[in-house]
Amino acid sequence: MPESISTPLTPSGELSPEAFQTYLNASLRALQDEIEKFDEVVPGEQAAASFEELRQRWGGRKTGVVTQISHLVKQAPTEHKRAFGISFNEFKDIVSHLLDGLQTRIQDASTFRRVLDGLDISLPGIARTPGIAHPLLTTMERIVEVFHHLGYSTELGPQVESDFYNFEALNFPENHPARDTQDTLQIAGQEAKPSRDRLLLRTHTSPVQIRTMVAQDPPLRIVIPGKVHRNEAADATHSPTFHQVEGLCVGPDITFSDLKGTLDHAMRALFGSGVKTRFFPSFFPFTEPSADVQISCIFCGGSGCRKCKHSGWIELLGCGMVDPAVFQAVAGERRRLGLDDAPYDPARVSGFAFGMGVERIAMILHGVSDIGTFYSGDMRFLEQFA
Ligand code: DAH
Repeated sequence: MPESISTPLTPSGELSPEAFQTYLNASLRALQDEIEKFDEVVPGEQAAASFEELRQRWGGRKTGVVTQISHLVKQAPTEHKRAFGISFNEFKDIVSHLLDGLQTRIQDASTFRRVLDGLDISLPGIARTPGIAHPLLTTMERIVEVFHHLGYSTELGPQVESDFYNFEALNFPENHPARDTQDTLQIAGQEAKPSRDRLLLRTHTSPVQIRTMVAQDPPLRIVIPGKVHRNEAADATHSPTFHQVEGLCVGPDITFSDLKGTLDHAMRALFGSGVKTRFFPSFFPFTEPSADVQISCIFCGGSGCRKCKHSGWIELLGCGMVDPAVFQAVAGERRRLGLDDAPYDPARVSGFAFGMGVERIAMILHGVSDIGTFYSGDMRFLEQFA
C-alpha cells in the first residue's frame, strides 16, 4: 500500500463510499507520480527492471495494491457493496491502462535506443530520384514542337490498325511487293474478314494521314507522333517496336518547294542553323514524286567521318507529294461513309507528306550507337538525361 495514502476510513472509523472513492483517487495520483519518475530513466535493462517492480507492487496477484484494495470491497457494509464494486472496477481498469501505457513507452524507447546505437550517420542515405521523361519521348516532343511552331496540330491513331488504313488507302495494293519492305505483324484469326478489315500492328504512322483526311476537310497541317511495329530482328539500328513522326500538309496549291522549305527549316531547327539538306529521288507508294532527305553530317560538318561513312551526309527521312491515288482512296472512303467526297477530288487538292524515325534522330542528337540502349532501362544511361 502506498505510504502516502491514508486509510479509507472516515474520522469516525467507518468505511463509507465517499471515503473509499477519495482513497482510490489518492492511490491513482500516487501511481501517476511513480510513472512520471520514468521520464528521467534512461531506456534499457534498468528501466525494464524498475517497471517490473512497479507492476508487481501494483498489479501483483497476491500482495499487489489492487488485490489489497479488493479486500476492502469485501469488507464494505452490505448496503454500499454495489457502490464500492463500481468504484473499484473503474480504479482497476485505470491502473492497468496506466501500467500498459508505461510498458509500451519503455519498449518503444528502448527500440529507438537500439536503432540509434546501430545508426551510422556517415553512411550515404537512400536517394529517391524523381522520374524524368525518356529521351525518346523528349526527342519526339522536340520534333513535334518544331512543327507546332509552323502551325501544325497533333493527331494520333491506333496501333492496332486495319489493312485498309495501313496499306490499301496508302496505295499499297494487295500482294504488292512494296508490302514486303514493311514486315507486318498480323493479328491472328482475321482470315474470315474481308482483307480491308483485317487487323495488324501498324507498320508506320502514315495510316493516321488517311484517318484524319477522312474526318477533316482541307486545308490540313498535322504531325503524327507514335509507336509502330515490324516483324524485324533487333540489331544495333533496328528494333521491332520503334517510333515515328509523320507530317501531312494538304491544301489547294501545295507544291514541292513548300515541302523543301518546310523540311529545310525543320532540320535546321532540330540540328542547328548550319545544317544543309538535300533531296534524293526515292519511292513510296503513297507519294509521287518521293524523296529521301539527307542532312549535312552534324559530326564533321560535311567533310566526311566515320559517322557519315565518309560521305558528309546523313539520311534522315522520307517524303514526297501526296499521290493522287491516296486522295482518291480518301474520297472513296468518305463516299462509303456518306460524307462529302469533293474536298479530296485529286484535281482540286494537293499536298506533301513526310515521315521520320524518332530513334534515329535521338541517336544522332545524343551520340547513341546502339538503339537497344533506349529500351534497356539501364539507369546509368537514363540518368544522363536527368
Ligand atoms: N511511312 C514511311 C515508312 O515508314 C515513311 C514515310 C515516307 C512517310 C514518306 C511519309 C512519306 O509520309 O511521305 O517507311
